[in-house]
Amino acid sequence: MRMYDLILKKRNGGKLTKEEIDFFVNGVTDKTIEPYHTSALMMATYFQGMDEEETLNLTLAMASSGEQMDLSVIDGVKVDKHSTGGVGDKTSLAVVPIVAACGVKVAKMSGRGLGHTGGTIDKLESIKGFQTSVEPEKFFDIVNTHGLCIAGQSMNLAPADKELYALRDVTATVDDISLIASSIMSKKLASGSDCILLDVKVGSGAFMKNYEDAENLAREMVKIGNGAGRKTVAVITDMDVPLGNAIGNSIEVIEAVETLKGNGPEDFTLLTKILSAEILKMAGIENAEEKVEEAISSGKALEKLASMVSAQGGDENYIYDTSLFEKAKFTREIKAECDGFISHMNAETVGVACAKLGAGREKKGDDIDFTAGIMLSKKTGDKVSSGEVIARIYASDESRFSSAEETFLSAVEYSEEEPEKRSLIMGKII
Ligand code: URA
Repeated sequence: MRMYDLILKKRNGGKLTKEEIDFFVNGVTDKTIEPYHTSALMMATYFQGMDEEETLNLTLAMASSGEQMDLSVIDGVKVDKHSTGGVGDKTSLAVVPIVAACGVKVAKMSGRGLGHTGGTIDKLESIKGFQTSVEPEKFFDIVNTHGLCIAGQSMNLAPADKELYALRDVTATVDDISLIASSIMSKKLASGSDCILLDVKVGSGAFMKNYEDAENLAREMVKIGNGAGRKTVAVITDMDVPLGNAIGNSIEVIEAVETLKGNGPEDFTLLTKILSAEILKMAGIENAEEKVEEAISSGKALEKLASMVSAQGGDENYIYDTSLFEKAKFTREIKAECDGFISHMNAETVGVACAKLGAGREKKGDDIDFTAGIMLSKKTGDKVSSGEVIARIYASDESRFSSAEETFLSAVEYSEEEPEKRSLIMGKII
């Protein structure tokens, strides 16, 4: 088989066979295929697309290109959740403990921040001592004993995707629905859970800017998951405005803790409860909504988070007393520029402003400032008066403020009329 022929076939709108896709993925994994051949095939795919069968075959080949987690040593149903990424999206930090408090085991691999979006692993590392690099044996043991573990990807899961993603990133071929779906699902399948809940974000802070694309991506991923024998559901949720009020690392952990105590912001609390209940239903738990409420009001979900923190080497006192988190040295208030309503707050731009404060990385391997971030006091739809504080920004380095403030202000638009409300839950694909 020759890569030239595969590229030509796809360029001319042909369909790749399973054997051809396996040949390609094996060659990417063992690096016998030249990056220019891979890039050309990605671009041909970007223009010609892949059908359902090709996408499933690509996903399965990538999922089996490296190690695969065998979760059979963990008793009971194992569930996983994945968000396609957003700004202020700390849902895993609240959903995972709630689900575990209801008796369903969560074995979750998470990632670091990417571009303007934050990552669960970075957020958890703001807790003193917390280890995100967990060997498989310990990972299984923590899930069996405590019911939950959130770790970074220490195993060699889906290495073909790692290679492909790095090339797509620099060849303008990231935003193709089949390629995104197979990339995400290859890692989820290799992670081994029985049930997968996908939170597909849509709006200014998401990969998918419009509902139609988000729905197509959700359908594609659900088909792949179910086609591979995993119970998979996708919920399509709004990411036009940052989720909750806190955007950063430690301040997002604090907001998740407050939500587990019943004091979270309305939008984040609602999404947390809905996603938790969906996962419980997938795991066959009855009266899911009531169980979620009870996990929060009884304090059991908070205890689960504390027990996970302690099992992963962190100081659980941070969960019971969030004043222990290190504070940023500097704070600045950001004020409304006119009277009226906030008609739009571009979530991606807010994410960029947050990264400029030091909460995100400019390049791979950069250190991040856990204390940096943005605390919103007003969001889209809120009425404001000129000069009223709409957000506070935090950083360890005061020189970061002016550029971050300018970027933040460019994200905010005002109107005289109250804007139409977008719903938080926009769709569900089963
Ligand atoms: N996240 C992934 O893991 N892969 C993509 O292609 C896009 C987002």
